[in-house]
Amino acid sequence: MDLMEAIRTRRSIRTYKPTPIPEDALKEVLNAARLAPSADNAQPWKMVVVRDEQTKLKLAAASNGQKFIAQAPVVVVACGLAGEAYPSVGGYMSSEVIDVSIALDHLILAAHERGLGTCWIAAFKEEKVRALLGIPEDVKVVALTPLGYPDENPERTPRKNIEELVSFDRYE
Ligand SMILES: Cc1cc2nc3c(=O)[nH]c(=O)nc-3n(C[C@H](O)[C@H](O)[C@H](O)COP(=O)(O)O)c2cc1C
Repeated sequence: MDLMEAIRTRRSIRTYKPTPIPEDALKEVLNAARLAPSADNAQPWKMVVVRDEQTKLKLAAASNGQKFIAQAPVVVVACGLAGEAYPSVGGYMSSEVIDVSIALDHLILAAHERGLGTCWIAAFKEEKVRALLGIPEDVKVVALTPLGYPDENPERTPRKNIEELVSFDRYE
């Protein structure tokens, strides 16, 4: 699968098979995240790979009860390290949320290339996830994703036209 095909055919997956993920496939998708760019090459992230059944169930509960999260054999919790991030993107913000998001997107596309499904999860209670996994106060929980073999084949979701999303030479 080439990159554009992976970008075109990826879907958010909300039904998973219990099939375990081979260790080498897991390592490869984590390595895709590792290779992502980051501001000042600071790499201010940590991916917590959760396989424990009880912990997955508690993560699903902490994510507004989105039960499908615990169906997948693995849940990846993407964390941003504020203390290691580039402090001033555009002169106004710290880079960790951007950096982690790019890394997680790399992971998501690499997973899809290997037949693994994901679903970016932002509806979670950070304090609950933090307490569950022992994440320190200065580390942000940016997103979660289940990771596993899809048990559904969702339709493509709509996108805006390119004319709406792009302008040339000026903001219009
Ligand atoms: C920042 C962000 C937060 C999201 N949060 C959730 C979520 O909490 N639960 C969920 O089921 N999907 C979530 N999604 C998935 C979106 O609903 C999905 O990407 C969008 O509908 C487009 O569908 P597609 O991913 O299949 O192309 C999130 C996606 C993003 C990028």
